[in-house]
Amino acid sequence: MHFSTLFTTAVLASTSLAADFAVKVSNMNGDLAFTPNNTKAAQGDTVTFHYYPADHSVAQGTFAKPCEPKANGFWSGFVPVASGVSPTTFVVTVNDTKPIWFYCTKANHCQKGMAGAINAPYVDTGNTTDAYIAASEKAASNVTPQNVAIGFGGKLANSTSASGSPTAASGTATGTGAAQSATGTGAASAVGLSKGLGLAALLGFLVV
Ligand SMILES: *[C@@H]1O[C@H](CO)[C@@H](O)[C@H](O)[C@H]1NC(C)=O
Ligand SMILES: *[C@@H]1O[C@H](CO)[C@@H](O)[C@H](O)[C@H]1NC(C)=O
Ligand SMILES: *[C@@H]1O[C@H](CO)[C@@H](O)[C@H](O)[C@H]1NC(C)=O
Ligand SMILES: *[C@@H]1O[C@H](CO)[C@@H](O)[C@H](O)[C@H]1NC(C)=O
Repeated sequence: MHFSTLFTTAVLASTSLAADFAVKVSNMNGDLAFTPNNTKAAQGDTVTFHYYPADHSVAQGTFAKPCEPKANGFWSGFVPVASGVSPTTFVVTVNDTKPIWFYCTKANHCQKGMAGAINAPYVDTGNTTDAYIAASEKAASNVTPQNVAIGFGGKLANSTSASGSPTAASGTATGTGAAQSATGTGAASAVGLSKGLGLAALLGFLVV
């Protein structure tokens, strides 16, 4: 496990330095929130949403109209799960570093603060994640996308059917990025590891 994690990270580092960042959609406590509520990601990185009970969704929105879908924005559909984390994930690729806003369309979850961002500014420019969440709490209605198919703009996948070692694949990079919420953390750790690429790859092959 440990060595194959290193191996996976080394492969990422040797290819494009793309990192994957995990975002929890609710959590084991049932909080109506995304964790982290803002993710710093570079172009080409991915954000993987992990769904907790009982039934949540992720729709791309706009800062100007909280709790309403962005035209042709990504949409995971609802991902119900009775207990624990769902094996179904939704992976969104980050194509540029402009802020990306999203929310849960279930019931009044958005108005309860279940909204978040990718690459929202951390310094207060007015359009921060906290400002988006605060505005969401005042939105008149919570709108589910009607004109796009489930899974649009991303990739719905079952982590258990992914190739290789699914938990290890997203473990290292995502944990670091989420915990620190700092610029380029995932990429930085990947660069650090790439120095040990030869050794890590060797160890990875030995284990695999
Ligand atoms: C903040 O969001 C508003 C509404 O979408 C937009 O008009 C404005 O340009 C944004 N400001 C910044 C600094 O991005
Ligand atoms: C967003 O997450 C940060 C970091 O965990 C937290 O300090 C902040 O209170 C959250 N914002 C809202 C509106 O919940
Ligand atoms: C990035 O581009 C891909 C391919 O066009 C698209 O599916 C995806 O939704 C885009 N990501 C965002 C956050 O818009
Ligand atoms: C994941 O697996 C479950 C159970 O087999 C299935 O119902 C669901 O449709 C799958 N989801 C995806 C996105 O493949």
